[in-house]
Amino acid sequence: MKKPKRYLVTSALPYANGPLHIGHLAGAYLPADIYVRYLRAMGEDVVFICGSDEHGAAITIRAKQDGVAPQDIVDRYNALIKDTFEKVGVSFDIYHRTSSKLHHETAQDFFRVLNKNGEFIKQVSEQYYDESAQQFLADRYITGTCPKCNHEEAYGDQCENCGSTLSPTELIQPKSKMSGETPVLKETTHWYLPLDKYEEWLRPWIEQGILKGETHHNPNEWKPHVLGQCKSWLDGGLQARAMTRDLTWGVDVPQEIEGAEGKKLYVWLDAPIGYISATKQWAADHGKDWKPYWQDKDTKLLHFIGKDNIVFHCVIFPVILNAHGDYILPDNVPANQFLNLEGRKISTSKNWAIWVHEFVEDFKEQPEFIDILRYYMIKVMPETRDSEFTWKGFQEANNTELVNNLANFINRVVVLTNKYYDGKIPTIDKSLEINCSSEEGKKSSFNAEFNAIKIHVERVGAYIEKYDFRNALKEVMALSELGNKLLQFNAPWSLIKTDEEATKVVMNIAAQVVTTLGVILFPFLPDTSKRICNLLNLPTSKNGNLKLLLEKLENNQSIIENNHQINKPTHLFTKLSDQWVEEQIQKLEDSQEKEISYVGLKKETTFDDFQEMDLRTGTIVTAEKMKKAKKLLQLTVDVGFEQRTVVSGIAEFFKPEEIIGQKVLLLANLAPRKIRGVESQGMILMAENEKGELAFVSPPNDFGNGFVVR
Ligand code: MF3
Ligand code: ZN
Repeated sequence: MKKPKRYLVTSALPYANGPLHIGHLAGAYLPADIYVRYLRAMGEDVVFICGSDEHGAAITIRAKQDGVAPQDIVDRYNALIKDTFEKVGVSFDIYHRTSSKLHHETAQDFFRVLNKNGEFIKQVSEQYYDESAQQFLADRYITGTCPKCNHEEAYGDQCENCGSTLSPTELIQPKSKMSGETPVLKETTHWYLPLDKYEEWLRPWIEQGILKGETHHNPNEWKPHVLGQCKSWLDGGLQARAMTRDLTWGVDVPQEIEGAEGKKLYVWLDAPIGYISATKQWAADHGKDWKPYWQDKDTKLLHFIGKDNIVFHCVIFPVILNAHGDYILPDNVPANQFLNLEGRKISTSKNWAIWVHEFVEDFKEQPEFIDILRYYMIKVMPETRDSEFTWKGFQEANNTELVNNLANFINRVVVLTNKYYDGKIPTIDKSLEINCSSEEGKKSSFNAEFNAIKIHVERVGAYIEKYDFRNALKEVMALSELGNKLLQFNAPWSLIKTDEEATKVVMNIAAQVVTTLGVILFPFLPDTSKRICNLLNLPTSKNGNLKLLLEKLENNQSIIENNHQINKPTHLFTKLSDQWVEEQIQKLEDSQEKEISYVGLKKETTFDDFQEMDLRTGTIVTAEKMKKAKKLLQLTVDVGFEQRTVVSGIAEFFKPEEIIGQKVLLLANLAPRKIRGVESQGMILMAENEKGELAFVSPPNDFGNGFVVR
């Protein structure tokens, strides 16, 4: 393929419903950041896009749990996530939001175009409906048992256990995520995208990289697990997929379209379009044109994601882009697999995770920890299969690779250069012989070693271009190892006593290696790259200097000049103790027990509003089970001046005979309501803990009935 004129790189838009953990970082953000930093360092035209995904069930369910509005949730987590990305050096050109006006308009325009082009089929179907929450239950609003693997917590759109895609009606024993109740079926109309209709071009595009008779990308460059998932989708038969939902939170279906009222865009239609609206905003902010990035064939478009997003980026979004007509398709979707933690799956609900903002906070006094984290995460990046983060591994990577290999080498060069040459890079006679860095006892020369540097640098680039970041980083460390061997096999500390001129050659080439490391580390460990450049007293550039480095290597020009004055040594990394490792593991385990998720505070109320409630002390005098209602008890409550009939949803927790004589608080002026044919005249106050267990809130046993609570 021709060399692209420009690159557009996206990372999956995180749901703004919680903080980022290390699995997110290793999946979609760090790899993209390395790739983008590399391109920038090579002087390429690249825009790096991300932002918050602020719609969908993930948000509204979280809001419901916390008892706050969805807007509060997205505001809080958008700010936290954006800040976290900045602190770990993920260098987006823009971090946008799908709640922005520009995004709503952009997504609606897409819908209009697709609708006008006749891409949708409007269809009535029966969908699950939660009568108590009064809403339809698509996607993650509904859970149940997976029909394929019997996993009990499968979602309405997907089973996270076996990875199958599901529709809510396939779930066994479906349950509403909103109320916990069993939903009923009810008719509703939606706009569907008939995915099967596009198979004709989709299959050759995915499998052979051919689109409209032109070679578009090389499918061999796609990761096998990505291609595998796509093929199983195609082979399983594509089906029409609803692109709208009956919801209150999301992007409205354009209101001029008939039947649009109350309908929102499906979050997986709206969110990827977020990449486009973010690009528009970036362009507006920088006086640029967004269109070439999305519409010019010379743009290389890449989506970095986690494996749970593959179908959306390889099938559904490409269909949407192509159906629109004006857009290019991704050249690659280098999805990563999952990162496990200390032998277990990372789990948000079980709080088995390392939260990135907490890591940043814990180690804010030691800024090099960000790069240790980046280093270790690249080392264990789940590029082709699931992988594992352990604190022991973190320590080992730091101690053996960053300290013993990298920092030690650089330190020795800086120390010796200061000691022997007052910190000036020595001028040398290139024709002198020295020992080879790759094999003990073999002879070598400045030029031969210089060439070895070049080979490593080229390999780093080649690996990055193949999205193989683990091997790219290994190659960087191999270069540092070369430097260490060079020192070891030449022992300048003894050589200086017998051959000063040869020592200068060794030290000069060692300085070339250090400088190269400073430049080539930029995509991986940006802060370390900067610190190395500072040690060498070389200017740092915002985007790294890889292009210049390669030119110099190509032309056999010194990377660091003779006589250049470097700075005094400082330490780059220090060792982590076994005790430190134990502390980290302990912290992780402690967070398990402590984790109770409290319901968030409701919005402020007034004293007057509170005064409107008439709360009275009372005693339960009769209690019986209600027919055909597992959860309900029918009670009589004595409130002193009269007796009240109350239907209460506490049958799962209390037996009728146990609660006779129980003191209670009653909301006595609640409008009467018929429940299963019985008029309920008030409500008993109960407290509910994090396990969903109920307890009566009651005055002491000798306190009379009918008195006011205030
Ligand atoms: N919010 C989704 C997730 O976390 C990813 C959305 S990616 C986009 O799984 F393409 F839709 F933006
Ligand atoms: Zn399953």
